[in-house]
Amino acid sequence: MADAVTVPDEWLPGIDALRKAPEGAAIFLLGGVDRGKTTFTTHAARILAAEFERVAVVDCDIGQSEIGPPGTVGVARARADAERLTDLKPAGIYFVGAFSPAQVALETVTATAEAIARARVAKANRILVDTSGFVSGPAARRLKVAKAQVVAPSLILGFGAQAEIGGLLSAVSNATGAKTLRLETPAAVGRKLTALRTTRRLTRLARALENGREIDLPLREVSLVGATLGAGEPLPPELIRWSAKVLRMPLAYGESADGLLTLFLRDGVPRRDWEVDAEPVSAHFKAKSVRVLSLGSYVGAYLGLHDTRGQLLSVARCIGLDPVRDVLTVFAPPPATPERVRLVSFGRVRLNEDGSQHSDIRPGEI
Ligand SMILES: Nc1ncnc2c1ncn2[C@@H]1O[C@H](COP(=O)(O)OP(=O)(O)O)[C@@H](O)[C@H]1O
Ligand SMILES: [Mg+2]
Repeated sequence: MADAVTVPDEWLPGIDALRKAPEGAAIFLLGGVDRGKTTFTTHAARILAAEFERVAVVDCDIGQSEIGPPGTVGVARARADAERLTDLKPAGIYFVGAFSPAQVALETVTATAEAIARARVAKANRILVDTSGFVSGPAARRLKVAKAQVVAPSLILGFGAQAEIGGLLSAVSNATGAKTLRLETPAAVGRKLTALRTTRRLTRLARALENGREIDLPLREVSLVGATLGAGEPLPPELIRWSAKVLRMPLAYGESADGLLTLFLRDGVPRRDWEVDAEPVSAHFKAKSVRVLSLGSYVGAYLGLHDTRGQLLSVARCIGLDPVRDVLTVFAPPPATPERVRLVSFGRVRLNEDGSQHSDIRPGEI
């Protein structure tokens, strides 16, 4: 039997609205950072799980993920005895590959849609959708509206003052037809320091990569998403050598696809102003554009390893890429094995070996 859950008075109307929501309803939580959304979700999940047979929690805060590893959207069945969302067993984890939603808006919305679909297939009586605190500015509005459109909630719960959240709440409601209820933030809700968030993320990333080992994936047998490499036909070695001479750069590999020629350095950055010498190369390959990338830029990339059905097997870290030897080396925990991995999603961040964040991957960099 669950311990009694003490819910702040300010939040009681929210719990009541969840009970009264239509059967199968999704409830979309909206509010800035540290407004208590996750704490509310935790309380509500426990209370509802004691009253309804199937309650699903969808966690789409990719920066402070509770159900799956950071950089993923997770869905789990609520339990009356779960003190934290991290205690819930994930029913589905969907890789997004970064920790700030603005960087990966498309992936965040898609992953949210997949998680919701999972909850609906499981015939959840209620679906609680916890979100990130990214609420200010036009990019946030676009993302929240898009996310709400795929969630199709019956109810939107707003956390925070009218001046802060009112406009966004109306926009999301008008985009979905959902009812809204705004809840004031209880005084007890504190502020999590940025350092604490970063530490929590690091701990959770380290845990997700625990028991990892180096595995070599045959590049020819996996599809890469979010990377340029692997999108075209490899160039013959003599043409790489010729291009290297013309461009005066130590090129290791190259591919051409549909008028786009991509040449790869093993490491380092392209020589300055190499473009002025590129004309003979683009003419030879009849390429509309020529790009030079570095295989070194792929090192550290946060990866999602998927099977043939697109199911996430494990998150992973890219150790190295050797297209000449046809190998992508990753650090990955089970159940990912070379036999099972068929799709590799490249995230938008690089990790250090300890799981801490190294740098962002810029658009077009890999
Ligand atoms: N009802 C509460 N009583 C005391 N502390 C709370 C309460 N709700 C939230 N907190 C604390 O406030 C901080 C922010 O809450 P959280 O639920 O993580 O917010 P959000 O998900 O909106 O960012 C956390 O440190 C949390 O422990
Ligand atoms: Mg939260």
